[in-house]
Amino acid sequence: MDQVKFSGEVKHTKALGTRNLSQEIVKKLIHQSQEAKKQAYCPYSKFRVGAALLTLDNCVFTGCNVENACYNLGVCAERNAISKAVSEGYRSFKAIAIASDLNDQFISPCGGCRQFMREFGANWDVYLSKPDSSESYLKMTVDELLPVSFGPEDLSMKKVFDIPNEY
Ligand code: THU
Repeated sequence: MDQVKFSGEVKHTKALGTRNLSQEIVKKLIHQSQEAKKQAYCPYSKFRVGAALLTLDNCVFTGCNVENACYNLGVCAERNAISKAVSEGYRSFKAIAIASDLNDQFISPCGGCRQFMREFGANWDVYLSKPDSSESYLKMTVDELLPVSFGPEDLSMKKVFDIPNEY
């Protein structure tokens, strides 16, 4: 069982522990995102992106970017992977790994994808990788990538004006 030290005593927590992925699992997830990148359909940007999403119960859904001649209809790799998972009944996630062909930079998810991740919680991990090897990556939480975010809970917060049903 995972343990966390809190005020001098050791408490057992499942919630925190589920996010501590082993190096082996992280490497594998990054590798899966790199494999997904190979399916990228990006004739316009020529910028391949792959994503691998790990669910709370350890299933992996991958996705790549899928562009369109009507440019604004293109879908990012992360959103693709998340939509695949949600459409199969998965809504709780531990982590998502992202891969691109950028040589010297960790691939950073776009703002839209950050908000899309946020829909399913702010407290899970995003692994930003480089193509060279799965050894180098940056780990950030959704909250770190999108601080002071707007999420589903905000919709039901107290308002100064309630729109009547017949509005
Ligand atoms: N792209 C992603 O798939 N994910 C991101 O987080 C950044 C951008 C895609 C969208 C488009 O197909 C291409 O990369 C160039 O922007």
